[in-house]
Amino acid sequence: MLIIVAQDYDEMSRKAARFIAAQVLLKPNCLLGLATGSTPFGTYQELIRFHQEDGLSFQNVRTVNVDEYYGLPASHEQSYRHFMQENLFDQIDIQPGNTHIPDGLTRDPQTYGEEYDELIVAMGGIDLQLLGIGSNGHIAFNEPGRYFSAQTRLVDLNKLTIEDNARFFESEDEVPRQAISMGMKSILGSKRILILASGAGKAEAVREMLEGPIDPMVPASILQLHPNVTLIADKDALSLVQPA
Ligand code: GLP
Repeated sequence: MLIIVAQDYDEMSRKAARFIAAQVLLKPNCLLGLATGSTPFGTYQELIRFHQEDGLSFQNVRTVNVDEYYGLPASHEQSYRHFMQENLFDQIDIQPGNTHIPDGLTRDPQTYGEEYDELIVAMGGIDLQLLGIGSNGHIAFNEPGRYFSAQTRLVDLNKLTIEDNARFFESEDEVPRQAISMGMKSILGSKRILILASGAGKAEAVREMLEGPIDPMVPASILQLHPNVTLIADKDALSLVQPA
């Protein structure tokens, strides 16, 4: 895994945005895998700036998001569809039909998950997958467990994840208890992965991802199996990692 050190969140965001912009320039119709949360927010702000000030075009870019809360309609303020529209899609020239996010209201998550994975294959596979990392080591909503799950599916959220994400809701009770999450097969099937981490709260998860054994209790550790992963992290997130 290539590790790029940033001084702080803003520098991480700038470096990540340049990485993604380079992918878009090299392949204007690339398929980007996208994530939500506090971590990629600054990266999306930078991409919007590249679009508005430097003319970076997303006209032919296609996107597929890694997760969505189960039970939230797209119109809900905290749905990941809403996050993506507000913080990226509505401010760039991407075609709405080219953006894909799991449907949090699907009545048949099993079939839906299979179709989501098939769609990714039909679109030629993900060229660049952007990821954050949960403080418990999750990627997308693949929570720590006894085994790695390959398929996109309905998942139960871990107690720590519910607590972490309560900051976006009025109260912890309002955080959905389930989500549709892309599975490891589609994530690891990406040609290139860019994972971001910022802040001391991610330091332990980053250390375990990089130095620990591959263990389903640390879902991000499976990225050690992928040949083309770049981690852009700030100093606080890297504070527990042994210097090479
Ligand atoms: C969330 C999302 C993940 C995200 C992670 C970290 O719950 N499901 O896709 O990467 O947890 O979130 P944040 O960037 O807000 O710390």
